[in-house]
Amino acid sequence: MTRIGMITAVAMGASLFVASQAFAAGNAAAGKKFFDGVCAMCHNDTKGAGAKIGPNLFGVIGRKAGSVAGFDYSPAMKKANFVWTEEKVAAYVNNPQQVVPGNRMPYGGAHNMQNANDVAAYLATLK
Ligand code: HEC
Repeated sequence: MTRIGMITAVAMGASLFVASQAFAAGNAAAGKKFFDGVCAMCHNDTKGAGAKIGPNLFGVIGRKAGSVAGFDYSPAMKKANFVWTEEKVAAYVNNPQQVVPGNRMPYGGAHNMQNANDVAAYLATLK
């Protein structure tokens, strides 16, 4: 391989790496601020705390959607048949009705993927 070819290959590898890491770039510290400002009025985030207007989000990453016992979910959330991942939470926070059509979360969405990724990264630390 020529020297230029090598450099190009290395540069391409680096940018692919950056692209694949882009999701993990959600910043948990910024996400906590966002959570406290926007989500905390409706959601607790500590272990064993009960529901507010929405279910407790402690441990939500890895939990089946609509599965906190005793919480009165919408029919749409109850039958949402997936497990919350960071990606899924970020997409839901960004645009709730697109991810779970008909759900009853009274929040219109962040419409900002950076904020959404950050808050998902924060929720992923709660376990
Ligand atoms: C005004 C109140 C309100 C706000 C603000 C709010 N939520 Fe919710 N959230 C709810 C309600 C109510 C539900 C249950 C929706 C349903 O049953 O359809 C819910 C559901 C959820 C769920 C699904 C939980 C599960 O157990 O399946 C996640 C995840 C979630 N919210 C994250 C967030 C995040 C993150 C924020 C901040 C960006 C936020 N919510 C802001 C009220 C709120």
